[in-house]
Amino acid sequence: MKQFKTILALGISMMSLVYGQELKSPNGNFVMDFSLSKDGKPTYQLKYKGKDIVKPSTLGFEFKQNNQMSFDWEDKNLDKNAFSNFISGFQIIDTKTSTFDETWIPVWGEVDKIRNNFNELAVTVSQPKTERQMVIRFRLFNEGLGFRYEFPEQKNLKYFVVKEEKSQFAMAGDHTAWWLPGDYDTQEYDFTETKLSEIRSTFDKAYTGNASQKAFSKTGVQTSLMMKSSNGLYINIHEAALINYPAMHLNLDDKTMTFESWLTPDAVGDKGYLQAPFNTPWRTVIASDNAAEVAFKGPQMIYNLNEPSKIEDTSWIKPVKYIGVWWEMITGKGSWAYTDEYPTVQLGVTDYTKAKPNGKHSANTKHVKEYIDFASKHGFDAVLVEGWNEGWEDWFGNHKDYVFDFVTPYPDFDVKELHSYAKSKGVELMMHHETSSSVRNYERHLEKAYQFMKDNGYNSLKSGYVGDIVPRGEFHYSQNIINHYQYAIEKAAEYKIMVNAHEAVRPTGVARTWPNLIGNESARGTEYQAFGGSKPNHVTVLPFTRLLGGPMDYTPGIFEMDIKKLNPNNHSHVNSTIANQLALYVTMYSPLQMAADIIENYERFPDAFQFIKDVPVDWKDSKYLEAEPGRYLTIARQDKNSNDWFLGNVNGDNSRSTKIKLDFLEKGKKYEATIYADAKDAHYKNNPQAYTIEKKKVTSKTILDLTSASGGGFAISIKEVK
Ligand code: NOJ
Ligand code: CA
Repeated sequence: MKQFKTILALGISMMSLVYGQELKSPNGNFVMDFSLSKDGKPTYQLKYKGKDIVKPSTLGFEFKQNNQMSFDWEDKNLDKNAFSNFISGFQIIDTKTSTFDETWIPVWGEVDKIRNNFNELAVTVSQPKTERQMVIRFRLFNEGLGFRYEFPEQKNLKYFVVKEEKSQFAMAGDHTAWWLPGDYDTQEYDFTETKLSEIRSTFDKAYTGNASQKAFSKTGVQTSLMMKSSNGLYINIHEAALINYPAMHLNLDDKTMTFESWLTPDAVGDKGYLQAPFNTPWRTVIASDNAAEVAFKGPQMIYNLNEPSKIEDTSWIKPVKYIGVWWEMITGKGSWAYTDEYPTVQLGVTDYTKAKPNGKHSANTKHVKEYIDFASKHGFDAVLVEGWNEGWEDWFGNHKDYVFDFVTPYPDFDVKELHSYAKSKGVELMMHHETSSSVRNYERHLEKAYQFMKDNGYNSLKSGYVGDIVPRGEFHYSQNIINHYQYAIEKAAEYKIMVNAHEAVRPTGVARTWPNLIGNESARGTEYQAFGGSKPNHVTVLPFTRLLGGPMDYTPGIFEMDIKKLNPNNHSHVNSTIANQLALYVTMYSPLQMAADIIENYERFPDAFQFIKDVPVDWKDSKYLEAEPGRYLTIARQDKNSNDWFLGNVNGDNSRSTKIKLDFLEKGKKYEATIYADAKDAHYKNNPQAYTIEKKKVTSKTILDLTSASGGGFAISIKEVK
């Protein structure tokens, strides 16, 4: 059979093929086959170590019937109805293979160099009936497959509208999946673990509330999607380099276990307005028989499918460890708003100097100075302050267009004084732009707002997109809005500003090209622990899903789990132990890490807080020691600037014991380990603050015996003894 295929492949440009070409990954573990079906549909399949990952699956598009989009259409006397079909009737007119191997240096990262090594197959197919062409480019890495569609410049395809992208991913069985409900507006859900065949019946339960949400199908799920097959394969589907195109979801045909791409529509229901030449984002299928490889190498493959940095001088881009005037508002202890007096406010009309303060406004000069002092004392780089600017009284849920101007502070927030105070203490302030999803309003103010930052010493920015998008009808993940996030990142780079966007589209490795994108939320973050709580194993799934596309501003470090203690009206419980919270600084890789709790709670636990002070935010190397999605994850990382190592373990629902070999330490050297672990009786629900701290001399021969509680974990710092 194999020989037969090869023989046919040799005759490639001569005839319309049923069998096509085979592509192997550099190490030979993956084999991809490309062919055309009998009716001329581009078809691919993927195997890993001889086992099916993707069964034969077709590729192509349905375009919107629109003659104006392609004016030569009439002249050519072609069948107008054929315009929409861009999936069948193709012939192969050219195939090219190539190899690539290069190592590049990321500006920040889990490792200090990344190898980009793949074998490529570029297939040019044409539809003789319509005289149109496209290139399907496949790249096969040791981690998995990436493919994209390319529309070269051509007469019969100039401007065109995508009605549906029809990329299929036929699964080989009824896999276990860790999925989020497919949604055009948010990823802020807990993961649901079910068989693929059970998605439909559990969908409604998984679809919990959000300020902005729009599901599209009871078998629709988001990427990055993580799965496990019954024969022990870990499979992830996501995308890379999402630029000028809508975000992709997956819709499952649960009779055949076949996913098909489902793009986010715009306000009028169209999926993408394209102009040739154009390349779509890459669709990625990452797989391994070792879950740790997916979590560790998956992100590297996704970065490799993005363009190198477009920022030449990256010296101003620096990892940031920060605290913030934040958790008090999230828990309801404090408020973003300055006054409770007015039923509504209008910028330029409301006179805040005449308003009666509500007494809970956290972003006031005195309180911010306390945070600056604390940051300076404990070695943090920055202090985030939310609620500093006018407009928070009715900021969300009202579809306001002009909600914030991003430059006018409340009367009790002194920008100039705080800037010089922070500077004198060696700390920076971090800007906050909540847009309330009024995207056009934000764009109108963007340059002024960025200039305001530069004038007042701000170099990093947290932005946010809570609520439904204005202009109304657009979605958080539609093409127009993807273009907005990208515009904001690129403009910020002009101003040398680092961006961390919340509620924006989940990342797809774009931070390789724009390394000033140092974080995103774009998943269910710690804030939900104060909105009723998240599943205790949530943080054991994120590294296999959300983190594949880039770092998350998860905002860990909560020490007081009983939120009533901060706000008697908030009965939420943080479903995590303190040791688990510490471990997150290692397991949730990000060049931007927050210590999210309020100062008082850190002062209560100074010995545990020490780990947060010590842990770096940039790494030379990382070792994923043990991993199972939804169950546990243990990672060791080496500081970029020293020989010190840091370990983190996060654990799911069931208590678990493990043996950790420290064989990654340099042989012959002596180290001191400080082990922050769950106490014997710790439990995320009943006893989350029970931890132990033990110091131990260790070497590369040491094996540590450790036990993690339900919803617990451990964190270890290992310092060389000189
Ligand atoms: C949601 C963000 O995730 C959160 O961090 C922020 O505090 C609020 N929006 C207000 O902007
Ligand atoms: Ca959020």
